[in-house]
Amino acid sequence: MAARGAADGDGMTGLEHSHELTRFRAIVTQRLGLLVAEPRMAELADTLGRRIAASGLSGAHYLDRLQAAANREELRALARELTVTETYFFRNGEQFKALAEVALPARLAAQPVGRPVRILSAGCASGEEPYSLAIAVREGPLRCAERVAINAFDLNPAMLEKAARAQYSQWALREMPDALQARWFEPAAGMMQLVDAIRGAVVFEERNLAVEDEDFWQSGRFDIVFCRNMLMYFSPEQAQAAVARLARALVPGGYLFLGHAETLRGLSGEFHLCHTHDTFYYCRRQDAIGAVAPAAAAPALDGLAWTEAIRRASERIDVLAQASLAGRAAAPAAAAEPDLHGALDLHNRGQFDRTLAHLGALPPDQARDPDVMLLKAVSLSQRGQWRHAEAVCAELLERDELNAGAHYVLALCHEGTGNAQGALEHNQTAAYIDPGFAMPRLHMGLIARRLGEGARARRELGEALTLLQREDSSRLLLFGGGFPREALVALCRAELAACAGTP
Ligand SMILES: C[S@@+](CC[C@H](N)C(=O)[O-])C[C@H]1O[C@@H](n2cnc3c(N)ncnc32)[C@H](O)[C@@H]1O
Repeated sequence: MAARGAADGDGMTGLEHSHELTRFRAIVTQRLGLLVAEPRMAELADTLGRRIAASGLSGAHYLDRLQAAANREELRALARELTVTETYFFRNGEQFKALAEVALPARLAAQPVGRPVRILSAGCASGEEPYSLAIAVREGPLRCAERVAINAFDLNPAMLEKAARAQYSQWALREMPDALQARWFEPAAGMMQLVDAIRGAVVFEERNLAVEDEDFWQSGRFDIVFCRNMLMYFSPEQAQAAVARLARALVPGGYLFLGHAETLRGLSGEFHLCHTHDTFYYCRRQDAIGAVAPAAAAPALDGLAWTEAIRRASERIDVLAQASLAGRAAAPAAAAEPDLHGALDLHNRGQFDRTLAHLGALPPDQARDPDVMLLKAVSLSQRGQWRHAEAVCAELLERDELNAGAHYVLALCHEGTGNAQGALEHNQTAAYIDPGFAMPRLHMGLIARRLGEGARARRELGEALTLLQREDSSRLLLFGGGFPREALVALCRAELAACAGTP
């Protein structure tokens, strides 16, 4: 891929251009947090070409300058060009309900006398989100505006200029009921002007979430943080560092709202997952100071392809097994030491009793390995041992609350014990934590059809059909109940046909 613009004229070869583009991409991630996705590389090349031309420097010199810490103006120019700034008032409205009915009352009750509840909108774009927060605290059941302080920041200065003007198109208000619009906006030259009471309720600043600033990210500074639809553009490392900052700045018991397609899976172990008002959000644990996400610690399941996770888990089990063999070299029984490969193989052949026997023979430290526990829970559920499977999942979730597999097995257990709502709840959680996981979608579709909820069944089954076709084969083997992909796809199609046209 070649960068265009002035860089073309300085005698560089296409290869050098490509090298510079790679370097540019890495600097953008390092300085702004953003990982420019492959489909946007042509756009990135355009930007690089234009910025090199504007600087009057050679490509290499421009990149050297960009890497140097002091080049703030250039980073601001890049922020204007590279950020995705889509937003609107009351985006994901259910989160504002959870704010008004759960997070705010809890934080108001916990607040020392005289201290306001401090809300942060991180990555506020052109202001729609923090202004929605200001309206929500005035409209909500508590009407607690005088006890709330709202801060907001964004990297992109053009967005902050727009937020300061506070003039919006009808499109930005599309999710806002007419009565609210009438109360908080006035028509102005074809636009809608936000009233001063709301404009004055938010303190905006230009700030980069990818930069450490101990003064700003002071421990316990905020009670509630909205950081929605920003981390999805960050590299995993930058997202992890950013979440660590947010966690530090939140009081224990404080709330974090992410975008509806974003999860903390693999990013942090410092939060409990909350699920109310048909939405997910997080509550900072009281006991977790700097807890690392389970994925970054031993289990290494999150953020990896399932096959890779299983391979790594198996390798770890092998290492553990060998260590224990070495320690008991003289013991004749040691030769029969089991490993996860063997157990998985038995499981994949549908021999669940033997899988359980295999796992049951592991020494206690290996038996508590999260991968081993998950395999055990799946095998127990296959044998209909719901209570035992549930207990294993509960133990696993105590250690890793964002384990999508454990939630899926719990959904099976609830269904097995006649609790369809419980099953739906855990499937929803599994699907939220891991949006690529097909089985909870299929399961929700089947349950919804049985409950006579045609529209929901069609939605979930349609989603399951798409996901099943690209679901990792190892994961299908583990969670697919012994059915091959084709059979699950055929089941999905048949169910979809059966619920076509039902309400
Ligand atoms: C898609 S918008 C989301 C706006 C709003 N939070 C919402 O959900 O509707 C993402 C915003 O994050 C901002 N952003 C991206 N990287 C950032 C960074 N490193 N620091 C601060 N803001 C950043 C962008 O400028 C953009 O305005």
